[in-house]
Amino acid sequence: MINSTRRTFLVCAAALGGVALLPRNALARAAAPILRAAPSNAQLVPSQYPATPVWAYATEGVGTVPGPEIRVTAGEWVRTRLVNDLPQSTAVHWHGIRIANAMDGAAPLTQTPVEPGSTFDYAFETPDPGTYWYHAHHNGTEQIGRGLAGPLIVEERDPWLGQPGAATRELTLLLADWLLDDDAAIVGGRWDDLHAASHSGRMGNTITVNGKTRPAFDLRLGERVRLRLINAATDRVMPLALPGLSPRLVALDGHPVPPRAVETILLGPAQRADVVIDAPQKASAALSLQLNPGNGEWSGIAGFVLDGDPVVPEPGEVRPLPAWGTLAAPDLTEPLRAAVVMEGGAMRGMDGASFRGERMGFRDLAANGIVWAFNGVAHGLEAPMFRAQRGQTVQLQLTNRTFFPHAIHLHGHHCEVQPRSGAFNQPGDVRDTVMVGADETVDVAFVADNPGKWMLHCHMLSHQQSGMMGWFEVT
Ligand code: C2O
Ligand code: CU
Repeated sequence: MINSTRRTFLVCAAALGGVALLPRNALARAAAPILRAAPSNAQLVPSQYPATPVWAYATEGVGTVPGPEIRVTAGEWVRTRLVNDLPQSTAVHWHGIRIANAMDGAAPLTQTPVEPGSTFDYAFETPDPGTYWYHAHHNGTEQIGRGLAGPLIVEERDPWLGQPGAATRELTLLLADWLLDDDAAIVGGRWDDLHAASHSGRMGNTITVNGKTRPAFDLRLGERVRLRLINAATDRVMPLALPGLSPRLVALDGHPVPPRAVETILLGPAQRADVVIDAPQKASAALSLQLNPGNGEWSGIAGFVLDGDPVVPEPGEVRPLPAWGTLAAPDLTEPLRAAVVMEGGAMRGMDGASFRGERMGFRDLAANGIVWAFNGVAHGLEAPMFRAQRGQTVQLQLTNRTFFPHAIHLHGHHCEVQPRSGAFNQPGDVRDTVMVGADETVDVAFVADNPGKWMLHCHMLSHQQSGMMGWFEVT
């Protein structure tokens, strides 16, 4: 798959007319490849059960779940033509890429949604190496809930794989959460269920890893592998564990962290973690990637099968990923201070909020499918939450006055978690999606160096859809 997508997804020289930046094989990749979104079928569950009708992306042939892996090297461009063969409008967002605003796919803010039968050409540079993903950004709960998501991998310019202390191999694992009925069909028709939306969101009953329930991966004895974990669930927070595999975290949301040993990895919706694992030197009990669905019980969602002769010598200390070198450090001497206060949902509720420019009480909001707000504004598209000058440091205070955690995603930027970091973060982590626990306040800071109108929303898509959305502007 990697080879075919490397061929299919055109990457070409940076805008500078920079011949020196032309990647190898640039000519072979000269046509804008297609990314078609269309109904398809996927065998999510074991083959004694029916295949699931899904919506899926394809570069050629029929759509797959997840969509084809797009893989480039930092500094290269992705060019693709979205072809919408879905029964409804759509747009593609390249989650976590510090992208030019017009290519962000954040309908309706940065583009109008692409109607059925229409196309839209995306072309963008990928400045920073790391693990990203792409997904539909219109009717997200339904479109991602039906399968419109895929991995977007930006490799380091100087390969890390194969270096001393690095991994010899990597695996991309895209995790999704499906709500299936007894015939393995997606439970539709309740994408805007306000009961779910006012709680933790739409929870599935079937976890897949790369579009399969409990797939198995081979591991050589003693082998060091880099896992690129992506939480592509619409709403589910995923506590993960890799017992017996000594997991070390090396990147969050694509951005490197000094390698740290972790017992569990908590991935909110849209978050990614790069984790280095070491297979045991001797055959051992069954190994798996485990998920805790919230009841305290861990269960395997992917298995690892040990095989082959032990790797010698043992790989030793984990080699850190190379620093990005592209992200400006926040200057906190005179930042622009902005705040996002989250309100609403079950157990707390809210008195009222403004929606489409009109102040409404709780009942009218609910009648409009709204149960959440940011700073007293629900689904705020009319005006930005704040405006920053290009190059200005923004210190953003994220306050959660609700009973539920939220996964706050900033488009176009990555932010640094400040000392007040809450239970889900560590100060200094750099992320594009930040979990804020119930009743927590988390401070983040970033340099607003990417001009445009950028969405800021909860990535629990049921929450986004029912009010937790706004935007900020960099001018
Ligand atoms: Cu991954 Cu606005 O989204
Ligand atoms: Cu939320």
